[in-house]
Amino acid sequence: MMRSLIILSLLTILSQPTLSKSVRCNPQDKKVLLKIKQHFNNSYDFSSWNPQTDCCTWYIVKCDRLTNRITRFNLITADDVAGPIPDAIGDLPHLTSLTFHKLPNLIGSIPPAITKLTNLQSLTITWTNVSGPIPSFLTQLNNLTGLYLSFNNLTGSIPPSLAQLRLLTGLSLDRNRLTGSIPEAFGDIPASLMYIDLSHNQLSGSIPKGWGRFNFTTLQLERNRLEGDASGLFGKSKSIENADLSRNMFAFDMTKVEIPYNLRYLDMNHNKIFGSLPAGLEPLTFVNVSYNRLCGRIPTGGVFQEMDYSSFFHNKCLCGPPLPDCK
Ligand SMILES: *[C@@H]1O[C@H](CO)[C@@H](O)[C@H](O)[C@H]1NC(C)=O
Ligand SMILES: *[C@@H]1O[C@H](CO)[C@@H](O)[C@H](O)[C@H]1NC(C)=O
Ligand SMILES: *[C@@H]1O[C@H](CO)[C@@H](O)[C@H](O)[C@H]1NC(C)=O
Ligand SMILES: *[C@@H]1O[C@H](CO)[C@@H](O)[C@H](O)[C@H]1NC(C)=O
Ligand SMILES: *[C@@H]1O[C@H](CO)[C@@H](O)[C@H](O)[C@H]1NC(C)=O
Ligand SMILES: *[C@@H]1O[C@H](CO)[C@@H](O)[C@H](O)[C@H]1NC(C)=O
Repeated sequence: MMRSLIILSLLTILSQPTLSKSVRCNPQDKKVLLKIKQHFNNSYDFSSWNPQTDCCTWYIVKCDRLTNRITRFNLITADDVAGPIPDAIGDLPHLTSLTFHKLPNLIGSIPPAITKLTNLQSLTITWTNVSGPIPSFLTQLNNLTGLYLSFNNLTGSIPPSLAQLRLLTGLSLDRNRLTGSIPEAFGDIPASLMYIDLSHNQLSGSIPKGWGRFNFTTLQLERNRLEGDASGLFGKSKSIENADLSRNMFAFDMTKVEIPYNLRYLDMNHNKIFGSLPAGLEPLTFVNVSYNRLCGRIPTGGVFQEMDYSSFFHNKCLCGPPLPDCK
């Protein structure tokens, strides 16, 4: 009796699909998404965005489980997505994560409409042809923990106001065409900012004085035109794990630098670093100090046993294995 009742009610539910399946999609969000689809010329990538269906089931986007509002927009690897970032993206007010990645035909500049996304925690625009400056209005997105703008066609200098994003843990602006110096305001970045990649730009000047106080886990500054003293990044009490300062014009005495306990990766090739190699480098897994002005005997053991001569060559007078013996 009980069983047949259950079967009966199951059948009833199954035979009324339209009633039993509640549509989660917020109508306002759906309207905005369809506008975005049209903006991108109904490109193939949006083929799951059928106006007759629940937008919470569509590809590229995700709805929150409780509010059913669109919280994630993740458009990646699509050659046929062409044109600028649509202003309509700013009308998805519940977005916490927005990603445009590997879209070679995404062009234009970062639109001010993005500042309406005050709940945004992660903004990723990477591997696109987005150009223009890094807008200072991004500082209005004060819930951002990650700002990733690598590998675009961005120009101009880094806006000092980015340092006001107090929740940032990761910032990557690498592989653009950025110029000017790293703003002195960055000497007062939030202590939470552990990952900074400014590499492969045309940045000049010295690093902010305040950086000596900070603990980075990863700092990538390679292939810029930075100069001056970077020794403040090191020190026994620092937690830095990976540092790439290569292909810049840094000039400082390495002799008395205290190597942080956690440092594992250190690339400083092609600079003007002088003095001798300090103690404490042995536990590293990678080191490259080639093309500098270093002198003296290369320490033995640990990483020095692992690296070949190319990590040490083209210095003033470094000597000993894997380079020729000292005189
Ligand atoms: C959209 O399609 C129209 C008609 O085919 C075309 O003229 C226009 O350039 C396309 N726009 C983009 C951004 O691809
Ligand atoms: C930018 O556009 C050029 C030319 O269309 C293309 O070759 C390049 O791959 C694009 N860059 C990126 C990062 O997608
Ligand atoms: C975003 O920041 C505002 C204050 O600036 C705050 O009221 C809001 O709760 C934050 N949202 C999230 C998701 O953290
Ligand atoms: C990159 O930007 C410059 C000007 O800022 C422009 O001349 C160039 O065509 C852009 N490159 C691409 C691939 O869009
Ligand atoms: C950096 O990290 C070390 C080791 O975890 C810690 O002792 C030191 O207080 C930290 N310094 C700052 C400025 O956070
Ligand atoms: C060290 O850097 C130099 C200069 O870029 C390069 O030629 C060499 O291959 C590098 N060696 C290692 C082990 O990375």
